[in-house]
Amino acid sequence: MTAAATRPTVVVTRRLPEAVERRLARDYTARLNRSPGDDSPDAAAILALAADADAILCTTAERFDRALIERLPARVRIIATYSVGYDHIDLATAALRGIVVTNTPDVLSEATADVAWLCLLGASRRATEGDRIIRDGRWGRWSAVAFLGTGLQGKTLGIIGLGRIGRAVARRAIPFGLTVIYHNPKPAADADAIPAAYEPSLDRLLARSHFLSLHAPANAASRKMVNATTLAKLPTGAIVVNTARGGLVDDEALIAALKSGHIAAAGLDVFEGEPAINPGYLAHPHVFLLPHIGSATLETREAMGHRAVDNLDAFFAGQTPRDSLARP
Ligand code: DGY
Repeated sequence: MTAAATRPTVVVTRRLPEAVERRLARDYTARLNRSPGDDSPDAAAILALAADADAILCTTAERFDRALIERLPARVRIIATYSVGYDHIDLATAALRGIVVTNTPDVLSEATADVAWLCLLGASRRATEGDRIIRDGRWGRWSAVAFLGTGLQGKTLGIIGLGRIGRAVARRAIPFGLTVIYHNPKPAADADAIPAAYEPSLDRLLARSHFLSLHAPANAASRKMVNATTLAKLPTGAIVVNTARGGLVDDEALIAALKSGHIAAAGLDVFEGEPAINPGYLAHPHVFLLPHIGSATLETREAMGHRAVDNLDAFFAGQTPRDSLARP
């Protein structure tokens, strides 16, 4: 434990699991979020909180764009995000200001892959409609021809972005009897260890994918990569799953494809502009919705917190944190 006077000051933008907050309070001068609603501070509040801080531990709900990073006091040397994704942080501006940025990879891959499968199964087996009819007291009788979903065996799952989470999704596909193909800018180096075949052409991957699961990072290249043109290339009756970032999908195009029946169903955990949801999704019975809970198990959320604090510890011990993100 460090003497209070020499402890770095860390602004923690949101509530974190208890064990993580206890560790932060023990080892840092921690400005924990104690707002009753666990509200995200806006840019002005972040600047006020950071006025005499050394570090910020943030989440994906706060946007560290150029304007905000340029105004952070020089004393702030590190931003540790409690997430694997870092599209909410302008890395180039942080690098120009000499601010280290870290994320929390690895520890959430399995939990997020579980939720991708929850979305895939929830969408393919019409869980939204089934749940609703029971809650509404409208379930009259069992029927051999009602609630017919889409089977998995013998079909193909296309994964866009075979990183850590994409791999965990691919591994789970094998016992379900699916063939897995993936598209990345280049094939994975450890191809033999992956139960998925590389498909260099995105168009060919789309044409073969009865199920499409998105795991690409959010950036300019991936923005709205699922759009009217790419959706049209999927086989009729395909199912789209997104647990990556909402910005990868053109919502209006996906809703139109659901309405036309070209896309049978969608399982979505992330949304452009969340927590606001495009009303077209709410209105469509074949959309299985979750509130961005990919990493939401106690074990995973604690592990993410400890990983973020490990990065802070390494930085303040004069080392390079293991999850330092390179300037783009
Ligand atoms: C991540 O880690 O990027 C998840 O989307 C949520 O926190």
